[in-house]
Amino acid sequence: MERTFVMIKPDGVQRGLISEILGRLERRGLKLVAMKFMQVSRPLAEEHYAIHKGKGFYDGLIEYITSGPVVACVVEGPNAIALVRQTVGATRPHEAAPGTIRGDLAVMVGRNLVHASDGPETATTETALWFTPDELVEWEQPALKWIVE
Ligand code: RTP
Ligand code: MG
Repeated sequence: MERTFVMIKPDGVQRGLISEILGRLERRGLKLVAMKFMQVSRPLAEEHYAIHKGKGFYDGLIEYITSGPVVACVVEGPNAIALVRQTVGATRPHEAAPGTIRGDLAVMVGRNLVHASDGPETATTETALWFTPDELVEWEQPALKWIVE
């Protein structure tokens, strides 16, 4: 089973879209294994987005992510990384397919509502950056047998 890191960005929280976004991931059939509501510090934002340091949008991105509370999560499922990226939609909302979170609910890249790890390495490093091991909850979800064969 694969795990991936997901964050509802400050615009998702401010627009009252937490339940809408989490609901789409839950309804897809992904299992939550960690979640917290938090204000992102500048050092955490800078480490999370270190790969984008030096790009033109970097300063605005750090401003955006630290501008208000976020919801950080880890979800689990078969092919969770690809499933979540697909449900989130393309980075630029005008390129995101209808039916995706960004394709249905966002219009601009700088306010694209949600972050999701883009591969196995980032899923591992981002999960470790945002959560301590004891914050990852092991639990049984009986309905899972109707989702995962
Ligand atoms: P994320 O990391 O947030 O899940 O988004 P992503 O993989 O789809 O996109 P990525 O290329 O990693 O970019 C990270 C975030 O930076 C902001 N961005 N702004 N103004 C711009 O041209 C621009 N490009 C990227 C977006 O918030 C994007 O999600
Ligand atoms: Mg990314």
